[in-house]
Amino acid sequence: MHKTTIAPKTMGGYCELQLTPGKEYYPHLIRLNTGRNALEYILRQKGYTKIYLPYFTCDVLLEPVKKLDIAHQFYSINEQLEPVIDFEIEPNACFLYTNYFGIKQEAIKKLSHQIKHLIVDNSQGFFSEPLPGIDTFYSCRKFFGVPDGAYLRISKKLNKKLPVDSSLNRFSHLIKSIELGIEAGYSDYKANNDALINNEIKTMSPLTQRILAGIDYADCARIRKLNFDFLHKHLQLHNLFKFEVPADTSPMVYPFLSNDRDLKLHLIQKKIFVATYWPNVFEWTNSKMYENYLARCMVALPIDHRYNLQDMFFMLNILKQFI
Ligand SMILES: Cc1ncc(COP(=O)(O)O)c(C=O)c1O
Repeated sequence: MHKTTIAPKTMGGYCELQLTPGKEYYPHLIRLNTGRNALEYILRQKGYTKIYLPYFTCDVLLEPVKKLDIAHQFYSINEQLEPVIDFEIEPNACFLYTNYFGIKQEAIKKLSHQIKHLIVDNSQGFFSEPLPGIDTFYSCRKFFGVPDGAYLRISKKLNKKLPVDSSLNRFSHLIKSIELGIEAGYSDYKANNDALINNEIKTMSPLTQRILAGIDYADCARIRKLNFDFLHKHLQLHNLFKFEVPADTSPMVYPFLSNDRDLKLHLIQKKIFVATYWPNVFEWTNSKMYENYLARCMVALPIDHRYNLQDMFFMLNILKQFI
């Protein structure tokens, strides 16, 4: 009779890194190493021959498209950041839509009825639940202090067993952020971004998974919502981007649109580090396109669990010097 041998449990020795035990936010979704690889997983599994992508998104999404040699076509978005579909969607093509800043869940619901092969990129919408039957992926590092990790909702799993990722060499920016501050870890953060390029699809690393299992998600979501609502209350009249505040989700950032092309620079000089979504958009578009304007003028104000209303007030006062 075939006997399975189980490695004996080790006992004693030094104390291991102590992480709070708990539950992941999406324990029933497929765990993968990166968001872009979650897209690759979908493309492989569904065998699509073409993908429609927004001009306004991150270029790393082209990694799987190029790897699998799939045709792609860019589409534009309107002032509500919703797709302008003035073309025929090919029957075997899929259509990727980004949940911009985590506030486009209603648009996703609408699109799910209109588009046959919709793929939702919830990299900016961690707290937006996947819709039944809609292939949806998440990238964890945009919301939490992990270097990688993704979740994927898809009805059918790939047949092959995936290798398990290792994050051991991707933690330096996260560790430095605690001992030396965010700025000291920034170059390591950029190196980590580079290290995530062109990796094969793997299962999420055990370390990332353990960290994700220890997060107090209810608290993170509550703080984000509170901070977002506070900023919106004070900024909506100045904000050129007009939108409905989603009732039951916690966005990634507060999107503030102004015609001041240098506002991001002013804030960065005051040590409010606002990212550009996305630098590649300047290469993909010309200066007359709306996406080009968005990449230049949409300011993504941080609202995450690190900050309270006092911090929001502080940021608001700095912002008000320029608007
Ligand atoms: C909108 C968007 N989707 C997907 C990704 C890819 O996520 P990951 O870095 O986990 O592959 C990114 C950024 O990297 C992104 O900004």
